[in-house]
Amino acid sequence: MSKPDEYDFTSLVDRRGTNSYKWDVATGELPMWVADMDFRTAPEIINAMRRKLDQGVFGYEEVSESYYQAVADWYGREHGARPCTEWMLFVNGVVPALSSLVRRLTQPGDQVLVQAPVYDIFFHSIENNGRHVLSSDLVYDPGSHRYHVDEQDLEAKLAEPLTRMMILCNPHNPAGKVWSRQELERTASLCERHGVSLVSDEIHGDLVFGQPQYTPLFALPPELLGHAVSLVSPSKSFNLAALHAATIVAPGERMRESISRGINNDELAEPNLLAVPGTIAAYEEAGPWLHALLGQLERSRSRAVACLEGIDGVEAANENATYLLWMDISALGAKADQVAAFIREDTGLYLSSGSIYRGNGDHFLRMNLACPPSELEDGLERLARGVRDFRARR
Ligand SMILES: Cc1ncc(COP(=O)(O)O)c(C=O)c1O
Repeated sequence: MSKPDEYDFTSLVDRRGTNSYKWDVATGELPMWVADMDFRTAPEIINAMRRKLDQGVFGYEEVSESYYQAVADWYGREHGARPCTEWMLFVNGVVPALSSLVRRLTQPGDQVLVQAPVYDIFFHSIENNGRHVLSSDLVYDPGSHRYHVDEQDLEAKLAEPLTRMMILCNPHNPAGKVWSRQELERTASLCERHGVSLVSDEIHGDLVFGQPQYTPLFALPPELLGHAVSLVSPSKSFNLAALHAATIVAPGERMRESISRGINNDELAEPNLLAVPGTIAAYEEAGPWLHALLGQLERSRSRAVACLEGIDGVEAANENATYLLWMDISALGAKADQVAAFIREDTGLYLSSGSIYRGNGDHFLRMNLACPPSELEDGLERLARGVRDFRARR
């Protein structure tokens, strides 16, 4: 195992021409949009994958008990809540699980509640399956730069007879908000009261800086967990999106059996050759790498926030999770699509327009900070220039 100060978060990795979705951009463009990192993953994970490849035999596989133990131990150690291994199901990714759960737990025409602005793929998982999105939009306070839930609106929408499922994002992408244990309990109680299944996407749960801490949904009292599901994965934390490995944690037996049938029908329950060794190595051996990464991400966030103070018309949201910076551009007086397109054209910096996340996302841009410091400086310089040129143009 390497020492934390030996991990490399400064070298640039050339990802052009590597089938990278993020880096499929024109020469000179700098992509800081889709949520994967420009850091190499932990050496411990790469070594475990190498050992697997050296074996050279890649027949059909099942998920070993040691996989579930590794997931449970990680949550016990890192987050103070060890789920039972019997609650777990392996699945080929968080988004495939979400779409399968929508199909399994609701009927065509039902409503699935979300809290916009939120990860845009939630809308696709719901709408592409013939269900309706019902949003209880998060409320933004421009003074504190923070979001909160409109509890009355949430309860009224959960009480609507056609609302059968809620998808929570914990921590929240794109806002970076971590739900406190109290907030989670309130949401879970409301869902329980109104017979709504609560599915919590916790893919960003390891990427939290300070308070409030991340609380996995499965850490709540058992009376709130009969219809509650957490979706976890090492994919964001360890930069392993292409591993297509995630775990469903469903404490309620009926719920779990039903979900298991759903993901098996959808053929999403079998691992590829690297999913099991990669996940076990991440959770058992790469904790020190993750802690070193968190230090780097925290420094990058502070640097970006300090830089934004010198850019008129752009303010950072004041939340404490993810490597994604959510930036309020309402002072620029234009829609996010227009501003994002202008900045890309003007400087080559490719950011996510907040409009895709709905809610008040039309007034925000999202910037991915998970890159070496020299790349971040380049991105911040382009952002400052793009915003200045945008303002000058109007
Ligand atoms: C909130 C959230 N859920 C899920 C995903 C993707 O999950 P997966 O790659 O496991 O399907 C992302 C990726 O950005 C995300 O931000």
